[in-house]
Amino acid sequence: MKILVTGPKGFVGSRIMDALHAVGAPPLREASEDDIRRIVDEAEPDVIIHTAAISDIPTCEQNPEASYRANVIIPLALVRTGVKTVLFSSDQVYGGLRGDGPYGEGETAPANLYARHKLEMENRALELSSDTVLLRAAWMYDMPRYGVRNRRNFLMNMLLEKELAFSATQRRGITYVREVAGNMRAAASLPGGVYNYGSENTLTMLETAQWLKDELGLPVRLTDAGPRHNLWMDCAKLREQRVSFRSTVEGLKRCLEDYAL
Ligand SMILES: NC(=O)c1ccc[n+]([C@@H]2O[C@H](COP(=O)([O-])OP(=O)(O)OC[C@H]3O[C@@H](n4cnc5c(N)ncnc54)[C@H](OP(=O)(O)O)[C@@H]3O)[C@@H](O)[C@H]2O)c1
Repeated sequence: MKILVTGPKGFVGSRIMDALHAVGAPPLREASEDDIRRIVDEAEPDVIIHTAAISDIPTCEQNPEASYRANVIIPLALVRTGVKTVLFSSDQVYGGLRGDGPYGEGETAPANLYARHKLEMENRALELSSDTVLLRAAWMYDMPRYGVRNRRNFLMNMLLEKELAFSATQRRGITYVREVAGNMRAAASLPGGVYNYGSENTLTMLETAQWLKDELGLPVRLTDAGPRHNLWMDCAKLREQRVSFRSTVEGLKRCLEDYAL
């Protein structure tokens, strides 16, 4: 299976490039629809894995047009090439739901612009091609990777900060990005549709952070950030397709082993 990865030097894309024998796409931020078609025609992939995006929520709020182009227009141009496409979405589409969760794929309520754009991308991509795979990813972490801009994440924050606040009530999956990458070949073969794609977590954010602090004997001081909306996902639909993730704590243990921390 020949795979084309967009954003091959990004946080997720670079780990996918490590895990798969894939071709990296050139930057798409200035590309027209014709440019995108030409890039795909030249690469002749069986599957496109699209990770390029503006994924920072405040950046999207401040630059709505750029967010719309990156998070809706470019992915739809990729789907229109007719090649099977795997698009990354986000657990943020659950940010405004009233219930406690864990949330299945059916109910959504985006509470910020980034999430609204991701949801529009999902719906329009499936209208264009029912074969498209949409992966709703949770917050991902890893140690820094040589040559890749180091994105702040849960693990790095825990290692570097003196004091952090996490909610003692919020439940949210946090996922080891190398597990995300390791599951990508299977994800590329999923039937079209939307999938919650990441680690499940029954601990609160504060409990999760306390677990990691104790495990590594970290000096970081943890405080309660107060009530926050749950973002935890139910990944049963993905498991039915025989694709699964470790729980958040088991994923963290695996990461600590991988880096001999
Ligand atoms: N990181 C997380 O915790 C997280 C959580 C949930 C969902 N996601 C989703 O997972 C996917 C990958 O996220 P990531 O953390 O790997 O993202 P990232 O590292 O912030 O960005 C990935 C790539 O996007 C491209 N890019 C940046 N600005 C762009 C723009 N204006 N137009 C087009 N492309 C642009 C860049 O590639 P080039 O240099 O090739 O242009 C960049 O390397 C995204 O769809 C994101 O929304 C991420």
